[in-house]
Amino acid sequence: MRAYNFCAGPAALPTAVLEKAQQEMLDWHGKGLSIMEMSHRSKDYVAVAEKAEADLRQLLNIPENYKVLFLQGGASLQFSAIPLNLLGKNSKADYIHTGIWSEKAYKEASRYGEINVVEAGTTIDGKLAISDQSTWNLSKDPAYVHYAENETIGGIQFDKIPEVSAPLVSDLSSSILSAPIDVSKFGLIYAGAQKNIGPAGLTLVIIRDDLLDQAKPEIPSILKYSAQSKNGSMVNTPATYAWYLSGLVFEWLLEQGGVEAIHKVNLEKAKLLYGYIDSSDFYNNPIAIQNRSIMNVPFTLANSDLDKQFLKEAEENRLLNLAGHRSVGGMRASIYNAVPLAGVQALVSFMEDFAKRNG
Ligand SMILES: Cc1ncc(COP(=O)(O)O)c(C=O)c1O
Repeated sequence: MRAYNFCAGPAALPTAVLEKAQQEMLDWHGKGLSIMEMSHRSKDYVAVAEKAEADLRQLLNIPENYKVLFLQGGASLQFSAIPLNLLGKNSKADYIHTGIWSEKAYKEASRYGEINVVEAGTTIDGKLAISDQSTWNLSKDPAYVHYAENETIGGIQFDKIPEVSAPLVSDLSSSILSAPIDVSKFGLIYAGAQKNIGPAGLTLVIIRDDLLDQAKPEIPSILKYSAQSKNGSMVNTPATYAWYLSGLVFEWLLEQGGVEAIHKVNLEKAKLLYGYIDSSDFYNNPIAIQNRSIMNVPFTLANSDLDKQFLKEAEENRLLNLAGHRSVGGMRASIYNAVPLAGVQALVSFMEDFAKRNG
């Protein structure tokens, strides 16, 4: 029996997707070989790759003037690829700082341009929150404004899209496909695949056409969006299996009714878990209500001496990977698309029982 996996990434994948991949593993569509053994330039593979893109376009309603790239190197390589691609004409960018990932992004970008760090963290009644945009020190004419829509470690998420005149660049690694978004509001969206998209090894970039010609001349061609776009994300051999499997996840999402339908389930899951945490004196979530992530729910126990015991018993109950990020400790339940409502119900029952016995 499969356990419930609350890992922040690589994260749970839908069981139906894994079963399909298993069925197709040895002999893909009667061709006598696995998809992993196929040339990325073959007609069959290119059809798989193009279908994945078409399904993603449908899921996110991506306008025609946006390119979709299936790259490698994780979201972390994009921390460099973005400034290398976008700071060729104007070397200034604004980075909104709300947590560990946005900090990593601006530190890396600082190697390539003049970065204005916009501090956007605040507290409301002792809880962490994102400050009102009117208080931000945005600069006058940056090439772009970067933010991390959902801080996976802190569990802090924007409740609205920042309103800026420069192109908006968003790290959607841990929230893409969890809720509808208006892609036309962004210049560039990027996400590592290993949370809501598919296995690790694939990185998605969605970029507006007009931003393709702003690269610095010294950029490696493999990182250059215009080159990747011209070559169907195949400047070199792409992560073929991860791309294929992500395509199966997109098909699965469409079968669930698309992003709007999965968003409803996600809201229900988040409401159940935060609702229980708030009703209990034993558990605490440090984030102000309007900025609580619907994907990553960090929480602490009233007595941290019980942390190890909590994790051990959770694992015995087939509730896996609930430890918080190593930099912050405590607990974190990542409740991505592939974690069903039943998984969150099982977690809440366990938490209730643990609190009763140890409170
Ligand atoms: C919001 C966010 N950005 C960036 C990263 C880094 O991603 P990768 O490990 O794919 O480089 C992560 C990883 O967890 C993340 O959660």
